Amino acid sequence: MPKILITGRGGCGKSTLVTLLTRSLNKRGNVLVLDADESNLGICNMLGLQPPEMTLMGVLGGRSKIKVKLLSSPDEEKRVFVDNLTIDKLPEECLGGRWPVRYLRIGKIERSLEGCACPMGAVARTLLKELTVGPDEWVLIDTEAGVEHFGRGVPQGVDRVIIVVDPSQEALLLAIKARKLCADLNKDYKVVINKADAAAAAYLRQELAARGMAVAVTIPFLNKIQQANMLGEALTANMGGNEVEALVKMLEE
Ligand SMILES: Nc1ncnc2c1ncn2[C@@H]1O[C@H](COP(=O)(O)OP(=O)(O)OP(=O)(O)O)[C@@H](O)[C@H]1O
Ligand SMILES: [Mg+2]
Repeated sequence: MPKILITGRGGCGKSTLVTLLTRSLNKRGNVLVLDADESNLGICNMLGLQPPEMTLMGVLGGRSKIKVKLLSSPDEEKRVFVDNLTIDKLPEECLGGRWPVRYLRIGKIERSLEGCACPMGAVARTLLKELTVGPDEWVLIDTEAGVEHFGRGVPQGVDRVIIVVDPSQEALLLAIKARKLCADLNKDYKVVINKADAAAAAYLRQELAARGMAVAVTIPFLNKIQQANMLGEALTANMGGNEVEALVKMLEE
């Protein structure tokens, strides 16, 4: 089953969609949520679980070791993980939650002047390239806002990309760019409109269609999602409505 990366502009609903998809997919098998956003912290609340003791960066020896192992020579990429990596071989101390939903945090910026997020990108890229996913397993990758993860090659090891578009010009521009970046990597993509009322959704569909981009599903703006987020409460199953289930069916095809 696939590794699916969710991309889009800041605040469009990437982490929300990862959580809603998780709620739907965990009825079908195990879901690993891979948090590849080096800044934001809210997805654990959305998922209703505690962050793990350690980040994967921490387990691998921290920023300086990663720089030596992963950023000095691409040939050395394989040395950081065990051979034939599967999700049951991931280090327990950097996994939150319990199956069928577990959460892995690549790394977060913790200190001023600690450096850029390139080491996090290198870890995410290598992990996704090496991780083999079984027939009843899903990996959902939550990314930072924008397209830097494409620049770092994080989507190289994924099967599919979901581009989230909210009602904004920036989201449209980024969606068009993300389609091109997916093509560079030969990755299939699906477009999800989020937080749109009927009029906004119609406009976005038309603008995307004019560029040959079809929309898979549209999730409306739902007060209960915004409210839960503000309060730091977990999102529950079916909170995104039938559209999320419809998206899951499309992803299963
Ligand atoms: N369908 C929706 N209806 C109402 N509010 C929503 C919906 N989807 C997302 N939101 C709200 O929009 C805000 C941003 O959502 P979220 O954090 O998922 O976006 P993001 O793309 O992950 O942001 P970032 O780029 O900062 O990581 C949150 O307050 C969230 O509750
Ligand atoms: Mg997010």
